Amino acid sequence: MQPTLAADRLEERLAGIVPEIEIAATAELAREVLALKEERQALILGHNYMEAALFNTVPDITGDSLELCRKAAETDFPVILFCGVRFMAETAKILNPTRTVLLPAEKAGCSLAESITAEDVRQLRRDYPGVPIVAYVNTYADVKAEVDICCTSGNAVRVVESLPGDTVIFLPDEYLARNVARETGRHVILPQKGVLPGSGDTELQKVMIGWGGRCEVHEQFTTDDIASVRRQHPETIILAHPECSPEVCEAVDFSGSTSEMIRFVRETEAPSFLLLTECSMGDNIAAANRDKTMLGLCSVRCPHMNEIRLVDVRNSLRDMRQEITVPEDIRLRALKSVERMLEL
Ligand code: 13P
Ligand code: SF4
Repeated sequence: MQPTLAADRLEERLAGIVPEIEIAATAELAREVLALKEERQALILGHNYMEAALFNTVPDITGDSLELCRKAAETDFPVILFCGVRFMAETAKILNPTRTVLLPAEKAGCSLAESITAEDVRQLRRDYPGVPIVAYVNTYADVKAEVDICCTSGNAVRVVESLPGDTVIFLPDEYLARNVARETGRHVILPQKGVLPGSGDTELQKVMIGWGGRCEVHEQFTTDDIASVRRQHPETIILAHPECSPEVCEAVDFSGSTSEMIRFVRETEAPSFLLLTECSMGDNIAAANRDKTMLGLCSVRCPHMNEIRLVDVRNSLRDMRQEITVPEDIRLRALKSVERMLEL
């Protein structure tokens, strides 16, 4: 576990990242959170997309969806406070049901999780009997309960390659499906969008059946953005999350999960970097790598991740809200899909 920052180091850590005028108030709020954390015996998990004032102060552990899932599963703290969106907090509850799991926002949804229902998955089972179904963790518990295995952006290729047969159903992110299909040598069909067998690269015998979900943040990046940065800053290394379109992912220098991108920047010598992903992550990388230049082109924030600010974390721990619950029959079925992924 990474040690929580000592209160007297908060100002130093936030310098240049949080506007100077806000630093004293941020540090005060962070101290309140740290005191409440002790009192409640809470483990604070922070997704890489959290705003800089939160990410750089109170979490015990930061990471991508997969890393936070693993930490949530193994903790014996009685309270898990999840600074991320609802599907992530639900996954923590699925894995560790005897803990109190708190989400510091009323909703904190996700356009991918909202793009598919449990009944959609049951219909796909009827349409494609016997075909294994993979669900991205960016889905709600009732959808996870209907599938065979989950995946995250950090292990999607490995999960797909572990499945038997030439056909796999991959839900709900169309772009992630197409990116994983390219890496695993499959052609994609999207029955929901009328893209049927024979319309893709049919030289590839293996098939991936996708869905039409999109991340409302990552679908905004285009190859024109990349071309323009390459023209103006040819020395810049460009990275993209695999929820971006396949054309964008093919045009960048590196594509990977949020933590894989963080590691790539940390370990790569280059004059500057541009991230095509949620823009808070650029600030967080800049805070941790004072010697690296991050291009500040990004103004794309995930509105759902943005619902969670430091003040919401304080309120959540103070009032022990909003507690995440998952009906036990759904939890047990969803657990099988998540555990299969973690066992890989
Ligand atoms: P990671 O699993 O890469 O952290 O991504 C989660 C997510 O929601 C990206 O938009
Ligand atoms: Fe969902 Fe996209 Fe926000 Fe990630 S960035 S939580 S995929 S809407």
